[in-house]
Amino acid sequence: MLLIQSSQTARRDVAFHLHSQTNPQLLEEGGPLAVARGEGVRIYDGGGKAYIDAMAGLWCASLGFSNKRLAAAAGRQYAELGFYHTFFQRTSDAVAGLAERLVELTGIENGKAYFATSGSEANETMVKLAWVYHSVRGKPTKRKVIARDRAFHGSTIAAASMCGLDFMHREFGLPLPGFLHTLCPSPYRGMYPDESEAEFGERLAHELGRMILREGPDTIAAFIAEPIQAGGGIIVPPRGYFARIQEVLDRYDVLCLDDEIVCGFGRTGNWFGKETVGMKPDMMALAKGLSSAYFPISAVVMAPAIYEAVREFNKAGGSFGHGFTNSGHPVGVAVASEAIRIYEEMDVVEHVRRMGARLHGHFEEMARDSPIIGEVRGAGLMLGIEIVADKATRQPFAPAFKAGLSFDRLAYENGLVVRCMGDVLGFSPPLIVDENDIDEIAERTWKSLKQLQGQLL
Ligand SMILES: Cc1ncc(COP(=O)(O)O)c(C=O)c1O
Repeated sequence: MLLIQSSQTARRDVAFHLHSQTNPQLLEEGGPLAVARGEGVRIYDGGGKAYIDAMAGLWCASLGFSNKRLAAAAGRQYAELGFYHTFFQRTSDAVAGLAERLVELTGIENGKAYFATSGSEANETMVKLAWVYHSVRGKPTKRKVIARDRAFHGSTIAAASMCGLDFMHREFGLPLPGFLHTLCPSPYRGMYPDESEAEFGERLAHELGRMILREGPDTIAAFIAEPIQAGGGIIVPPRGYFARIQEVLDRYDVLCLDDEIVCGFGRTGNWFGKETVGMKPDMMALAKGLSSAYFPISAVVMAPAIYEAVREFNKAGGSFGHGFTNSGHPVGVAVASEAIRIYEEMDVVEHVRRMGARLHGHFEEMARDSPIIGEVRGAGLMLGIEIVADKATRQPFAPAFKAGLSFDRLAYENGLVVRCMGDVLGFSPPLIVDENDIDEIAERTWKSLKQLQGQLL
């Protein structure tokens, strides 16, 4: 991608702009990377070079980078009503319609949808709702939340506390007290050699139960999980894991919070990741694909018991003490409703299954020929390749090699945007990819991998 070091834009950017998830020194020395425009699944830099963005930006631009229908839906809504809110009993047809659609799609019977503007806010909303739920049922000490190692749940204070990634904590003295982490369900890294997937899942559930007992079941409000962990390195839990976990949650009256922010809206080959992994949540957080990231909108869909708790708490006339200025923003709602219509028209689930299987097949073929591909994993169009120094022993490369980062750089040069999470190469392309795009992603991946092998071996 074009590094702009000397232009006025670069000078201004370095002088005035603090970037998210960016090393300040690298930015000052190297300048920013410039993206000029998008077309379908491709982005173009200022020099006109095209890249297939096999990460859909940040796992989010599911309909690519230039969808005209989403632009038109936003334009129509801006012209009609550019802003209104959902405080003090306000709503609109569009807000009510999207809420109904989300409850139907998620299959949470008689549920309710709450709108926010980011994934982090949706996750924090679920935590606050869990607190209300327990408090109304006479269990106000149930406050702690258990997340998992290598989880990513966002950047606001509670959401960052729920992350199981050191880089989200170290600058800020997080996690906050009361946010705990149990084992990551990574079969590749966590399973004992003599253990079956079922036994591994059993052990993880047992560990969770031990943590709950250690802390005191009367202190634990909720367990939060991504169906397939995204930012932690595309981690697919062992089969049966969520069923075992759910038994433990039921035993100790702990709510199950489902972070569908990456997995939702077709990404894993089902409408929601919970179907792919057999999760039975009390609440679901949605964002990213909800609007194909064309507008910052997120939602929480909750079981009726959660709503009932809010209602009960405020029965003396109080109002639910929570809300964001842009909750249910009419433009966000219009864009999300149009995105969902497009997903339905393109039969997103079927399409993702076909395209995902094709990409998975290419990667498996590469794995047979490559001495450094340790594992190919994922579901639908959410795939990861873990590269290792030794396939037989799963020995990782020494961190000094920065193998993942080197791949990332080579891929850029070859016109491919991926995401390296340590030595896991992440692929989460726009869901509109076709066969040719998939084959091109695979070709560029293979070319970059062979170059990397040449450097490392
Ligand atoms: C699984 C998951 N949850 C939550 C978030 C946070 O979403 P946002 O950045 O919109 O706050 C992310 C962002 O990448 C995510 O991947």
